[in-house]
Amino acid sequence: MEIQEKKILVTGANGGIGTALVKALLDKGAAKVYAAARSTEAVAGRVSGGAGRVVAVRLDITDEDSVAAAAEQCGDSDLVINNAGVNRCVGLLAPDGMAAARREMAVNFFGTLAVCRAFAPMMAARGSGVIANVCSIIGMVNLPVNGTYCASKAAVHSLIQGLRAELAPKGVRVVGIYPGPVDTRMTAGQEMPKATPEQVAAAIVAGLEGDAEEIFPDPMSQEVHQGLLKDPKQVEREFAQMIPAAATEGPAKSGGGSGKV
Ligand SMILES: NC(=O)c1ccc[n+]([C@@H]2O[C@H](COP(=O)([O-])OP(=O)(O)OC[C@H]3O[C@@H](n4cnc5c(N)ncnc54)[C@H](OP(=O)(O)O)[C@@H]3O)[C@@H](O)[C@H]2O)c1
Repeated sequence: MEIQEKKILVTGANGGIGTALVKALLDKGAAKVYAAARSTEAVAGRVSGGAGRVVAVRLDITDEDSVAAAAEQCGDSDLVINNAGVNRCVGLLAPDGMAAARREMAVNFFGTLAVCRAFAPMMAARGSGVIANVCSIIGMVNLPVNGTYCASKAAVHSLIQGLRAELAPKGVRVVGIYPGPVDTRMTAGQEMPKATPEQVAAAIVAGLEGDAEEIFPDPMSQEVHQGLLKDPKQVEREFAQMIPAAATEGPAKSGGGSGKV
């Protein structure tokens, strides 16, 4: 799809990848970018310089009224990028694993689904549009230290596949985006190779422009994806080694652990 002259909604626009996406889309000539965040003040400071093409939108994707209001305000979007997400960085058996799983499912799966359900009918009525959901490469294979997050992103991967099938006959395309580690708030304090949000945003925009159905926007995600195509059980076994005892036995963590993707 052409980004030039398009109207585009980006959720989680005050985050690392979200902010970089807003800038990359403006650089490509988007007519309007709806930069959505739970706090519009947080967006305003980051999107100045959009020369009147950036509209700050208040959106909490877990709040039905908020999603409905955003759909009303941004109903002319040609492209919706569901980027908002959370990672509590715990294992499935961690002390706070249930609470983490519920929150991650609430935001990553149910929130994304709610936004898709709000915008899909308007795109279907027009017979065109693109919905692009930011999943994760660890939505395709579980990294146990982030076990609950991976399960929520696996649900997003399934959502992408199902929605793609439902919307294809209506002329609406659904794109899956599967990053590896990116240097944002979500991976703060972790020592591992990470792509920059700007690199990832540029690769996402290039993938959208090339009509890719799935986008692996960084070297790590590309390598893991190739491994999954070749031998998924081998990748699962390798990821299973990355499970520090703290993931299941340690005290509750609110972030900053290892292995967040
Ligand atoms: N960083 C990585 O390594 C990595 C890798 C693969 C995939 N991803 C995915 O990439 C996306 C962007 O993450 P990021 O790395 O840029 O992290 P980030 O800086 O933490 O950004 C996450 C964004 O999601 C927003 N958000 C959280 N809950 C929300 C809700 N209920 N309603 C609306 N917005 C909400 C946050 O807003 P607040 O400021 O209000 O919390 C923030 O803007 C996420 O879906 C993440 O899972 C990240």
